[in-house]
Amino acid sequence: MPSLAEISTRDAQLISDAMRLRFYPLAVERAQGCRVWDVEGREYLDFAAGWAVVNIGYGHPHFKEALLCQLERSTFASLISGMHTPALQLAEKLVALTPGDFPKKVWFGFCGSDANETVGRLLPIATGRRRLVSFIGAYHGSTAASMAMSAHAAQSHFIGGGHVVKVPYPHPYRCPFGDEIHDCAQATIRFLEDYIFKTICPPDDVAGIIVETIQSDGGDIVPPPTFLPMLADLCQRYGIYLVVDDVKVGMGRTGRMFSPEHFGVIPDVLVLGKALGNGIPLSAVVARKEILDAGTGLAIFTTAGNPLSCAAGLATLEVIEQEKLPENAAQVGTYLHQRLCALQERHPLIGDVRGMGFMQGVELVCDRQTKAPAARQAAKVVYRAFELGLLLFYVGMFSNVLEITPPLTLSKAEVDEGIAILDQALTDVEMGRVSDETIAPYAGW
Ligand SMILES: Cc1ncc(COP(=O)(O)O)c(C=O)c1O
Repeated sequence: MPSLAEISTRDAQLISDAMRLRFYPLAVERAQGCRVWDVEGREYLDFAAGWAVVNIGYGHPHFKEALLCQLERSTFASLISGMHTPALQLAEKLVALTPGDFPKKVWFGFCGSDANETVGRLLPIATGRRRLVSFIGAYHGSTAASMAMSAHAAQSHFIGGGHVVKVPYPHPYRCPFGDEIHDCAQATIRFLEDYIFKTICPPDDVAGIIVETIQSDGGDIVPPPTFLPMLADLCQRYGIYLVVDDVKVGMGRTGRMFSPEHFGVIPDVLVLGKALGNGIPLSAVVARKEILDAGTGLAIFTTAGNPLSCAAGLATLEVIEQEKLPENAAQVGTYLHQRLCALQERHPLIGDVRGMGFMQGVELVCDRQTKAPAARQAAKVVYRAFELGLLLFYVGMFSNVLEITPPLTLSKAEVDEGIAILDQALTDVEMGRVSDETIAPYAGW
């Protein structure tokens, strides 16, 4: 087995910087359940699930069996120029499970980026309206069109398309309209309707509004519960399609299978990815038929919707349902939230704790009064936690939010174990035990 040092050298020589978002030197050798082992045999508890991907945990027997079974039958069959049962089974399941009893169809891709790009392409064609609205802080992907729909600080080097109008997202801890505003959600909707729609963006030219129910890469921001219903109402009044990007928080993570279910909102378009294939590349757009049928062959990727990916998606959904993982995410996630709030009482570095289920964010600040973002400290806490055996990342427009998105199978005992490590890591950073030089090679966001 090559050593970590050897792997690090080869990785630096061979792997493009363009695909790096590194926080510490992790070289995974194997993984099982909520645990990961590196090439030198060190064990880690996984509070990241590889960016909210491995929702059913690593090495689930049903998942492995389903993939092996499909490998035996056929490794590939084209869906763009043929038909196959795994795609139909998965599409049927998605149509049945997702909110909305209108006629729906399914489009398959590989990742959240291509799925959002497809939505952005089809909506103007389906409606004859040219514009889209998205929210500042959103991360919708890393292809040109999905980047154009995003508005994350990490993508500010990229100039997006002028047809996407970006508006503030309601952030209760840092309301973009000022701290004195008591209803940040209402202020956001008013700004959009009374200012943006009346000035630069006529609503009858808006095809869709794309939104994350929890803005995750933007800083794990949980908007006021009234926000999504108010946005859905606005869309309905102007005949605008509502697109919910559930790529990161869908598939049971928030405590329901799909996040809009918490708010009684039925999106016209639901975008899924990441956990849909539990790590096997797979994304899906589940949407009103008239949107996904806007034209033939408008979004075709040769190997998309392949039977192996579809078998992975089907098996993942079966495990989430059979093992009641959304319920576990809700119950154990509440316990996790409480334990994080208890940490906040002892660590002045923690300014805010927020989240739903197993999507939790811990915002670090230099000072609770000024709320000055503690970005360097976040990088150090994440690094120190890694050294102590816990995997997590940080996110946010100011790179100062510790993100906790474990596999949905995580137990209370594992929460306790992870919290103990996080507690120690926070203490070590507060005591100045992690140097700037240690974290210097890991640029993060
Ligand atoms: C909400 C959301 N949408 C889309 C994407 C893009 O997904 P992918 O990286 O699989 O292309 C991400 C990735 O982090 C995401 O968080």
